[in-house]
Parts: sequence; C-alpha cells; structure tokens
Amino acid sequence: MNNQLSISEINGIAILTENDKKIYSVGISTAGCAEIRMALDHPQRHIITTTIDPIGAEYVSLQVTAKGLSKQIEVKIENVIDPLPYPNGSFDYVYARLVLHYLSKQDLQIALGQLYRILRAQGKLFVVVRSVESQEAKSTHSTFNPITHLTTCCWNGSSYSRYFHSEESIKSAITSYAFSINHIRAYQEQLFTDFQRSTLSNQIDSVIEVLATK
Ligand SMILES: C[S@@+](CC[C@H](N)C(=O)[O-])C[C@H]1O[C@@H](n2cnc3c(N)ncnc32)[C@H](O)[C@@H]1O
Repeated sequence: MNNQLSISEINGIAILTENDKKIYSVGISTAGCAEIRMALDHPQRHIITTTIDPIGAEYVSLQVTAKGLSKQIEVKIENVIDPLPYPNGSFDYVYARLVLHYLSKQDLQIALGQLYRILRAQGKLFVVVRSVESQEAKSTHSTFNPITHLTTCCWNGSSYSRYFHSEESIKSAITSYAFSINHIRAYQEQLFTDFQRSTLSNQIDSVIEVLATK
C-alpha cells in the first residue's frame, strides 16, 4: 500500500481547523488513508466515512482497526443519494473527493441537497471531481448522455460511466444550494486504480477542486 497522500488529499486535509471535529467523508478514500490522517492529526475528531462497496468498506475497516482508530473513524455502507440518517447541521466538514462524478446530473442535485442539509451553518464542503479534460471524456470511443450528463467510457478493458465536469458545471450544481464558493481550481494528478491503494493509474488525470461554505 502507498501511504503517500496526493495533491487533492493534502489540500482537503489542510483546510481542516481545530473547530472541524465532526467530519463526513463521502466515498471512502483508498485504504482509508485520508480519514486516518484526519483522525491522527486531531484525537477529538470523529469521522463518518461511507461507500456503497462492502468489500472496500471491509478492507478500510481492517486498516482503521489495525491503527487503533475505530473510536474515531466509523465506516458505513451508505448511498449519498439516499436520505442520510443524520439531523440537520450534524457535521462541520464534508469531504467529497473523487466521488460526486459517479452521479448523474439529477442524482448530484439530490446528493448536494443532502450534504447541504447535514452541514452546520458556516460548515465547509470540499469537492474534487474528474474533469472534461480527462482522456476518457475526450475519447471518440466514449458516449455522452445529454440527459444524465454521464459519459460511458470503455477504457483499459472495462466500461463505466462518469459525469466529467467543467468548472462551470460543478460550480453551478453546488451553488444551486445556498453555498458560497471559496475557491475553484483545476489541476492534474495521478490517481490510484484500486481501493487497496496499490496501483497508480498509468495516466495523469485532470480534476477540479472546489471549496464551498454553507
Ligand atoms: C474513486 S473511489 C475513492 C474516493 C475517495 N474519496 C478518495 O478520495 O480516494 C470512489 C468511492 O466512492 C464510492 N461511491 C460511489 N458512488 C457512491 C455513492 N452513490 N454513495 C457513496 N459512495 C459512493 C465508491 O464505492 C468508492 O468507494
């Protein structure tokens, strides 16, 4: 396993302050590395991290237990488009790196509504999504669905669908709720291809990072 954090993970963790004790991390990070870092940085932090993948969840739970962090990090199977089982304003910080682009335009709106609801006033939302500049998004073998905004790609022998964003599309989705944008920036980074965090992609990816405040 590669424990080195990538640029957007470092950025998403660096934003956290002493006051950010209750964290909701959508789409568990590879090997739980980001959540483990957040917990180790501050013993008072409690992080709920979610996924829809039971095998990934089990793998991360083992990493968390091995580090003695089970009291600080809760791993749950939860779909961000389902009603989330938390009262309004439950969290100080929502970390949503490389997950919201799995959702169609319609589901993204549902998810952002949930995330807005569970954040406290002045709480921060950190989002990283893959960009329209990604190679798959530009490939002539990919097909774009104008209703869902999902692009179906055949890449390295597998087929999957993602919503590749422009700065405008992710900004407009986030600001359709009463978030204000702190920053939005596009850059490149190399992503892991597996939840065990063992294999780096053979391509450099283009991503868009957004920090917003409720
Ligand atoms: C690229 S991976 C890792 C994202 C992770 N936040 C990171 O920074 O490495 C995407 C994760 O999001 C999860 N996921 C996909 N759709 C989801 C959904 N609708 N609700 C919650 N998790 C989802 C996947 O199961 C996977 O664990």
